[in-house]
Amino acid sequence: MTVKEEFDNARIHDLQEDIPSNSSGNRPFRDVLQANLQRRAVVQGGLTLAASGFLAPSALAASGAAGSTSATSSGELVGFTPLSIEEAAADPTMPSISEDYEYSVLIPWGTPIRRGAALPYRGDPDTRPSADDAANQIGIGHDGMWFFPIDAVNADFVKDGYVLSNTRGLLCVNHEFGRNSHVMGKDAPETLEDVRLSQHVHGVSVVEVVRRNGWRMANSSYNRRIHVNTPVEFSGPVAGSAMLDNEAANMPLGTVNNCGSGPTPWGTYVTCEENFNGYFGATSEAWEPTEEQDRYGFTNTGFGYAWEKFDDRFDLSNEMYANESNRFGWCVEIDPFDPTSAPVKRTALGRVKHEAIAIAESRSGRIAAYMGDDQRFDYCYKYTSNRPWRAYGEGESPLDDGNLYVARFNDDGTGDWIWLNIANEEYPELAARFSSQAELLVYTRIAADIVGATPMDRPEWTTIGLDGCVFWTLTNNSAREEANAANPEAPNNDGHIIRTVDADDHMGDTFTWDIYILASSSAGTEGTFTDPDAAWADDEGRLFIGTDGGQPDGLEDQLVVFDTTQASDFETNPPVAKRLFCGVASDEITGYATTPDYETAFINMQHPGNGDPTATNFPAETDGVTIPRDCTIVLTRKGGGRIGS
Ligand code: FEO
Ligand code: CA
Ligand code: CA
Repeated sequence: MTVKEEFDNARIHDLQEDIPSNSSGNRPFRDVLQANLQRRAVVQGGLTLAASGFLAPSALAASGAAGSTSATSSGELVGFTPLSIEEAAADPTMPSISEDYEYSVLIPWGTPIRRGAALPYRGDPDTRPSADDAANQIGIGHDGMWFFPIDAVNADFVKDGYVLSNTRGLLCVNHEFGRNSHVMGKDAPETLEDVRLSQHVHGVSVVEVVRRNGWRMANSSYNRRIHVNTPVEFSGPVAGSAMLDNEAANMPLGTVNNCGSGPTPWGTYVTCEENFNGYFGATSEAWEPTEEQDRYGFTNTGFGYAWEKFDDRFDLSNEMYANESNRFGWCVEIDPFDPTSAPVKRTALGRVKHEAIAIAESRSGRIAAYMGDDQRFDYCYKYTSNRPWRAYGEGESPLDDGNLYVARFNDDGTGDWIWLNIANEEYPELAARFSSQAELLVYTRIAADIVGATPMDRPEWTTIGLDGCVFWTLTNNSAREEANAANPEAPNNDGHIIRTVDADDHMGDTFTWDIYILASSSAGTEGTFTDPDAAWADDEGRLFIGTDGGQPDGLEDQLVVFDTTQASDFETNPPVAKRLFCGVASDEITGYATTPDYETAFINMQHPGNGDPTATNFPAETDGVTIPRDCTIVLTRKGGGRIGS
């Protein structure tokens, strides 16, 4: 196919994930946004608590102040020299970075996870990995991730009385997606082997990384791949439900479209299944989606992966696998320190197109998980555990025992967390619609429709900021039809960031909210950006945003940094973004992880060039031939110092 056809094909994927499937008639968020203009000070006046920035590994306290100082020569919290538009836009074949920083490349797609485990794939356009090799290589579509420090040596870093390593740890990396043309060099699989290749490049990698004259992957027994055919387990209210059973009696396998992620206070990794619908299709033209399947976007052709042609599990019209699609769309917990453990799908957190998860610990020790469902006009969710996380014993989990809520944003700057449970007497429609809580959770979106949640502009990442506030990136909503005073453009192509504060230390039934920034307000400034997506906030008030698509002024997707301690007003005095890093043509900047001292950051470069070697060959030198490969980018400050300082 021609390069243009290739890109049009890529666009089909991008558009598919944007098709709204919410016809509930709930009040669009844009209406609420308009009403919000009069009262946005509510949230800013209500910030009181200390927040946790770095979630520490097993047995370590999750919260606490940073041990390192971050004074810069300028005295500013975000004091680095920003990358200018001119510098950033100069060469789309290679990344660019602030003059105060440097980057290196880690674990590109195709790297064997252990010495001798597989042949390496380095971007040869004439070959692709075998399916077996792919199962033992770093996957593609690097996205959410986290760094779990291990084996501190030389008293690397003391925090809350614990020694954490800044030079050695386990890096968990999501592999969200790779299009057929990128992964296998053709548009559609021709054999089951092709399908297996596609399936094996999806999932998660866990690898040990060490800093020794730069960061590199260690040849470690911790290193493992989790992919679409890895045995998994279910827990929580849906586990054991007939809704997860197939006549084929096949065991639960795999995780797919692993988008964002979040660490738990107890040292595990939660990976989020986002556009799982796109991997299913129907071999029978007579197949039609049920109402529930329609709400989750299942179609005859999916996103064109065509797995269903060779793998019955993904054939929606195969009655032997009628419930296979219910097995995806979950948050999945992985213990990186136990390579033999099965990933666990935590069903209490609901089934939506889970973008990412941010877990906060309340003063009581109970946890709250904030999660977006990334689709136009879909919703924001919160989950809370019933007990302090340390109170759960062997075989129990705070992610199994708790309650799920969906957000309703009120006009007056308040919001309601609406309990999604068939026992919710305020909404008897839930018990009327669902025969069990398990059924409600499998169809979380429909429950949220029923209770009148607020349809949002594609909720992507969440992150916990200073004082326990939560930042929510809303990437865009091109179906938006009406302009309003805050965002005079319609459709809303640029996205925005919302900030919420829970009314009761993450355990409340209500919250306050305001808009942190409308991305459109950055137009015409040096800090211009659009389509906020990945988000991470440190414990000093820096907010890191990775973007996804459509950057202005010749820019590619970028990592920008905000100082959230600065007084701002989204309308008259919007926050100013400083550009730290800019990627290559057609890529996306995803994920964020940091060492405990905050002096190394890991971000991801996803789908560089959309796989087209005439656009970029990164991370290879530019040669016009080598297939570009998704990879992790390691950021450090020249001469040391906190990332973002
Ligand atoms: Fe996987 Fe919504 O980004
Ligand atoms: Ca994303
Ligand atoms: Ca996105």
